[in-house]
Amino acid sequence: MQIRKAVIPAAGLGTRFLPVTMSVPKELLPIIDRPLLQYVVAEAAEAGVEEVIIVTSPGKESISDYFQPHTALEQRLEAGGEEGLLAKVAEAANLAKVSFVVQHEALGLGHAVLMAKDAVGGEPFVVVLPDDIIAHSPGAITQMVQVSEQMNAGVIAVEALPWEVVHNYGVVDGTPVSDRVYKIQGLVEKPPREQAPSNLTIVGRYILPPEIFGCLENIRPGANGEIQLTDGLLALLRDHDLYAYQFAGNRFDGGTPMGLLRASLAFALDRKDTSKEALSILREFQGRLDQS
Ligand code: G1P
Repeated sequence: MQIRKAVIPAAGLGTRFLPVTMSVPKELLPIIDRPLLQYVVAEAAEAGVEEVIIVTSPGKESISDYFQPHTALEQRLEAGGEEGLLAKVAEAANLAKVSFVVQHEALGLGHAVLMAKDAVGGEPFVVVLPDDIIAHSPGAITQMVQVSEQMNAGVIAVEALPWEVVHNYGVVDGTPVSDRVYKIQGLVEKPPREQAPSNLTIVGRYILPPEIFGCLENIRPGANGEIQLTDGLLALLRDHDLYAYQFAGNRFDGGTPMGLLRASLAFALDRKDTSKEALSILREFQGRLDQS
């Protein structure tokens, strides 16, 4: 399965990030100096993705602005000999070809993915949720493409989480087949803890065959009255094998203020140009803790 296309749903209201999301899309909030969206586009590009289809909603035009050429700015930087900044400005647009489709009604994640049906066409593709930021080299999608090639099937990223929080996620019922890989028998979206089949929760990376679109067209609204991607996957399971893959890497929930803070600290500590200062900030705070 050569994966050339990625679908990135970015149409949500970002309620967990209100009030800032009244005017800034959640997907453009930064970890240090790059928006969440750029991290996931880079992760997809690293895995060989050439074309990214971003699903937005009305009012989120600043997302497409971000990926347009910024000619006036580039000219000014060029005139000023600002090579480093020029490279940063060009970075996002150079990662992959980016196109947009609009989801006009907020009918759920599965419905958002369905909006990309024509743009994807009849080939396997990867769905990437920009809330889920995964730090690892090689990236999670690169790891999943390998598993997908080995198994010749769709692959969904999972992580084992404490049972107290599994009701916030899609949950997989799977049988281990090899290191980190499970054959999926069933999936359920946001089950009550006592009904969860396992503590293997779905993380926002899915390598899928194009037949998922037909499944999404035929399912009814599920959890929260929304067309759920998880329910589409359950329908897909009738005729297609699916595997869950416990990726190597740390996952951060960039969709919540504290998750983004945690991600920002972790990335700042890892990045050469910021690690020293980040460490001294943490030491300063540690000093305050020691005094209290
Ligand atoms: C979505 C999916 C869920 C998955 C989660 C991962 O939920 O529906 O299955 O576990 O992303 O981040 P959401 O976070 O949009 O409620």
